[in-house]
This record gives sequence, structure tokens and C-alpha cells, in this order.
Amino acid sequence: MSASTTKAPYLRLGVNIDHVATIRNARGGGHPDPVRAAHLAAEAGADGITAHLREDRRHISDEDIARLMSEIEQPLNLEMAMTDEMLEIALNHRPNACCIVPESRQELTTEGGLDAVSLGSRLPVYIAQLKNAGIRVSLFIDPDISQIEASAAEGADIVELHTGPYCEAALEGDHFKVSSEIDRLAECARAAANAGLEVHAGHGLTFDTVHAVAAMPEMVELNIGHFLIGEAIFGGLHSTISRMRALMDNARAEANGCASA
Ligand code: PXP
Repeated sequence: MSASTTKAPYLRLGVNIDHVATIRNARGGGHPDPVRAAHLAAEAGADGITAHLREDRRHISDEDIARLMSEIEQPLNLEMAMTDEMLEIALNHRPNACCIVPESRQELTTEGGLDAVSLGSRLPVYIAQLKNAGIRVSLFIDPDISQIEASAAEGADIVELHTGPYCEAALEGDHFKVSSEIDRLAECARAAANAGLEVHAGHGLTFDTVHAVAAMPEMVELNIGHFLIGEAIFGGLHSTISRMRALMDNARAEANGCASA
């Protein structure tokens, strides 16, 4: 990566607590409580909390969103599909940000980015309704220049670049693909920042894959969930999040030409 003349800003960590709710829902009842996890995440260095209210409510519930809004000081990033039901919920709660994701009921997790190019006039109208309520709007998109151009043209504040293909390539040990995916993410991060968009990234990030993305100077926030909650089984939630926070800070310090902490 080429050295940047301007210092990259502080990189925010948004902790996605969906899978605490997945475990809770496996048995019903209230344990483990995702709102308790959100408090702990904040203590451990999370700058924001992310929760995906899926249409089928497979993990986070409507009540979780209400409690997160009333009990957590950190900004809430509400991930949601572009539906009328979700719009109403967002306008009711007014979280700090809404991240619009594509959603299909069959998928295990969000599989691809939103197609901002083909959504046509529906997307800018939807975005405008959220923005008029003071909610920042993020679009979860594949790292693709045409998606970035469409996101900017349609009025998004933020793009969240899908890091899933990069992380999958890393898991498969496909070094050629890792390198091309990193180049693609870096190029799109630059293009998005140049288009006036705030740049976030997420999906599939782990201790092993976070460094390259955290080192991209245009990156403002990473949203990480599944790995942190899974790893917390072995290392505890506080220590797992603190370690991720430190890895992000180290990557940033290196990118800014400072010695690692
Ligand atoms: N960003 C978005 C838009 C997502 O849909 C998800 C998964 O819910 C994440 C980030 C976090 O991905 P992961 O759970 O793999 O860290």
C-alpha cells in the first residue's frame, strides 16, 4: 500500500451483537442478553453497536432494538432490508444510522451487496425518508465502482464495503485472490471517499483478516460480529473485543507511519 501524506483518522469499531441473540433464541427465554453484550462491548472499546433486524426475526427482536435505543449510549447502526415495515421501525426509533442490506429468507447471512445500480428510483426515495428523520444512511455494497457511483448519486451518506469475498479467499488460502480483493477494496475505498461518502467495511472479518482493511486510510468504521461472538466462547467477550480494537489501532498506526503500540 502506498504511504499516505494525510494521517488516517481514528478507525471506529462497530460490534454486531446479532449472534448473541441467535444463541438466546436457540432456547427461548432471555439468556444470553444481547443488550448486556452491547454494554460489555462498549466497555471493551466498541464505538458503536450494530444489530440486524431481519424480516424473519431469527435473531434480534423488535424489543431488543427498543432496549438498545433506550439503554445503550453508543450509536446504534440498524441493519435492515429496504421494506416499508423496516422504514416504519427505523422512523419510530431513529437510530444513529441505518445500513440497508439485501435480504433473502433462505440465506444464512447477508450474501451479497445491495444492487444500488438497479434499484432505480425506489432507493433515493427510501434514503430521503430516513435522512429527513435525521438518520444517517449507509448502503452495504460490493466493492464495485459502479455501485459507489450509484450510492453517491442516490444520496447515501455512507457505503459499507462487503469484505466477505476477501475473507473467504483468506480462509481458502487463495493468496492471489486475497491480493486482488484487497486491491479492489482499497480502490473502492478511495473512490468512495473521493465521491464524498464515508467509508465503512464489514463481513467475515477476523483477527487474521482485519489488518489489511484497517490499514486503508479512507476507512472510518469496521462492523464485525460473527467472529467476535464465536471467539468470545473461548476468550471472553471483553478480551476478544479489546484484542480486535488493538489490532485495528496497530494497523492504523502502521499505516500512519508510527511504530505499533
Ligand atoms: N455488515 C453487514 C452489512 C452485515 O450484514 C454483517 C452481517 O450481519 C456484518 C457487517 C458483520 O459480518 P460478520 O458477522 O461476518 O462479522
